[in-house]
Amino acid sequence: MRLAKNLWYPVLESSAVRGKPVGARRLGIDMVFWRSASGEIVAQQDRCPHLGASLSLGSVEGGCITCPFHGLRFNTEGRCTLVPSMGAEARIPDALRALTFRTREAHGFAWIWWGDGEPAAAIPFFAEFDAGWTWCTTAVEWPVNYSRAVENQLDVAHLAFVHRTTIGAGDRSRVDGPYVESDDAGIKVWVSNRRDDGAQARDAEDLAAASAGRQPSLHLIYPGIWKLNISASFQNLIAFVPIEEGRMLYYLRSYLPSRWGVLGWLFHRITRWSNRLVLRQDRRVVITQTPQNSLDSRDDHLLGADRAIIEYRKWLARNVGV
Ligand code: FES
Ligand SMILES: [Fe+2]
Repeated sequence: MRLAKNLWYPVLESSAVRGKPVGARRLGIDMVFWRSASGEIVAQQDRCPHLGASLSLGSVEGGCITCPFHGLRFNTEGRCTLVPSMGAEARIPDALRALTFRTREAHGFAWIWWGDGEPAAAIPFFAEFDAGWTWCTTAVEWPVNYSRAVENQLDVAHLAFVHRTTIGAGDRSRVDGPYVESDDAGIKVWVSNRRDDGAQARDAEDLAAASAGRQPSLHLIYPGIWKLNISASFQNLIAFVPIEEGRMLYYLRSYLPSRWGVLGWLFHRITRWSNRLVLRQDRRVVITQTPQNSLDSRDDHLLGADRAIIEYRKWLARNVGV
């Protein structure tokens, strides 16, 4: 599939990988995830290089994954360490390798480096979540290209329509701004929505001044980590995960201060339910967008309120297949 390169992609909630191998399609490839003897997550193509069976049906023993078909074993680097039919002493051809991806575990996700050369040392994330928060994740799959889902969360003009009965209540269809800052790391958006009462729109300078020192309303870190700043003690995060060209997965998280204890747990349950409801409202419309991949959308007429989407498309076009 078409993906921006040389980036760390969040691909899986890391708590999903325990003793058994887990199969999942990600970045257009069937993958298997498992844990090494030292507890690190390994991601490999879910295809045994012998006769192509799914390694995810196998088992993990002694720091290796064993294929369920003829028992071949592969280590964390993908090298075959045992071919039972040839005996333990046999010399194993070097070419017998399971395709292995560079993988890291951080912030509760497994990440895959998609690109050439050495992976970037740091995985970009929102530093404020490193300590003092609890989170609760919900996974939602959509039959759309991942670019459309990202754009939907940068779209500041749809709330009064798509979410009329929920977060967009109050007929606040007029968009002031948005004021957008974008660089190679991501996009920050400051926005306010109001009723169209005939008052003059605020100009860019005014909006820039108003945003100074304030957290952005929306913040996307490339390729697909997004934060909605609801309040100082309540934030939503999305990890956008590409599955294949026409399919993606949301890991949608609410973050609350850990000091909230049981109350926080309760709040997480409610938020989980309401977030899913809001996302269902988006889904209804986004799955109808054509063409499926925004990279192909040459006929779209982008407007002033779509400033963040314009920046995202520019970045995508620059980085896909680089
Ligand atoms: S297909 Fe995997 S060991 Fe034969
Ligand atoms: Fe929405």
